[in-house]
Amino acid sequence: MKVLVKRNSVFQEFEVPRYPSQTVLDVVTHIQRALDPTLAYRFACRVGMCGSCAMTVNGVPRWTCRTHVDKAIKNGNEITIEPLRNLPVIRDLVTDMRGFFDKWARAKGQFSGRLTKKDDFQRIKPDSTERVAVDAGIECIGCAVCYSACDVVAARPDYLGPAALNRAWTLVRDERDSSTIERLRAVAGDAGCHSCHTHMSCTEHCPKGISPTAGIAGLKREVSLALFKNVL
Ligand code: SF4
Ligand code: SF4
Ligand code: FES
Repeated sequence: MKVLVKRNSVFQEFEVPRYPSQTVLDVVTHIQRALDPTLAYRFACRVGMCGSCAMTVNGVPRWTCRTHVDKAIKNGNEITIEPLRNLPVIRDLVTDMRGFFDKWARAKGQFSGRLTKKDDFQRIKPDSTERVAVDAGIECIGCAVCYSACDVVAARPDYLGPAALNRAWTLVRDERDSSTIERLRAVAGDAGCHSCHTHMSCTEHCPKGISPTAGIAGLKREVSLALFKNVL
């Protein structure tokens, strides 16, 4: 198959053999190991857990270790591979994730519990509404696929983005956390949840089936409620 890899804004062409169940990450690995050892890319787990292998494949942001070539190639025998959109490129297919994770910190994405080590565990019922809401967003692997798919991030780089806001939402609904008001303050600003246009691109592309759009809608609701109660 013909593989076009974007390097320093230019596409470089490679010919890679195809085989059954081959993933896009296998293709990139073949290029780096057999054709051009200078190609830079990032991966760790190869099983969809670490979130480090995301790239743009035929124009679509994807986790490459779990994307089969057969699925990525729609027509013909050609595939293009580029770094994720909306992130600075360090080299070839490797993006700088610092801005992405700095936004998690800006959205107060750190858990802040009430209990000390002397207290017993706080028990949360698996079927409580809060627990169900947290479970829906907690499996995020920080791959930035949603961030790369979001047109609002592209238009205004200070926007916190779907992943950081999804993280904030899981903590807002976490009954063990004690920083809800501070977190709502952090996401209520101009670059926060109200900038989301709800066009669902993040949700459509998230490989873990998470809906940041739903979480962001929840944050908008909670921020409005807090404003109404005059506690923000
Ligand atoms: S729903 Fe909001 S966060 Fe998700 S892609 Fe659209 S604008 Fe971005
Ligand atoms: S919400 Fe989904 S797409 Fe976004 S970083 Fe988490 S796992 Fe990746
Ligand atoms: S290599 Fe870890 S998610 Fe793909």
